Amino acid sequence: MEPDIHSPVVSIPRIGEKAPSFKAITTQGEINFPEQYKGSWVILFSHPADFTPVCTSEFMTFASREKEFTEANCKLVGLSVDGLYSHIAWLRTIKEKIEYKGMKNVEVKFPLIEDITMEVAKKYGMIQPGENSTKAVRAVFFIDPKGVIRTIIYYPLSMGRNFDELYRVLIGLQTADAFSVALPADWRPGDDVIVPTAGSCGIAKQRMESKKEMKCYDWFFCTKKLAKETINKALYKKK
Ligand code: BEZ
Repeated sequence: MEPDIHSPVVSIPRIGEKAPSFKAITTQGEINFPEQYKGSWVILFSHPADFTPVCTSEFMTFASREKEFTEANCKLVGLSVDGLYSHIAWLRTIKEKIEYKGMKNVEVKFPLIEDITMEVAKKYGMIQPGENSTKAVRAVFFIDPKGVIRTIIYYPLSMGRNFDELYRVLIGLQTADAFSVALPADWRPGDDVIVPTAGSCGIAKQRMESKKEMKCYDWFFCTKKLAKETINKALYKKK
């Protein structure tokens, strides 16, 4: 039977909402989500199935880059609707047998949730029947240190994620929060950032005339410099 893609079987939490709570068994023991992650950023991400090629390439990439995310005060938590023993066997195979794009002996140290009942996947709208009714899509939830969902990205089953982009989003969210700025298209740390639109004509005029700190393309569109070092120092106490 064709899945009824219009039936309300999934709920999708939205940006700005509290991340739905759950307790789950993972490859690193039980977790109480998101409560035990308070104070850290978390990326909660789902994959369709263990022992599949796209997911394997993703896990190897994420595990190899975990240190970068840790240094940015971000923890990783994976999920699929497979069971714990499948997860363990798959991660062991990755470590012991797979060499891919220069990555080998890759140990996945972050927790991978078992979700055979799909309880968590359904709570987070990871089961999207139009794509597949028994596997999670590739969902990525960025959750801030207060447990609030700040960005959601979904990819279909056939498309591996871009981990440079996930890292860029994380640093972007942290930068926007810390400096009260917005970030233009394709922003990367070190690029100019957007200052909030002027609240009055007087301020807009001042900005347009000021050549020093800001560059204004029009009254509603002004940018200023924000050095990578300033971001690193403010966010991660790095020099
Ligand atoms: C994969 O990870 O390779 C995959 C998983 C489910 C469906 C299609 C591809």
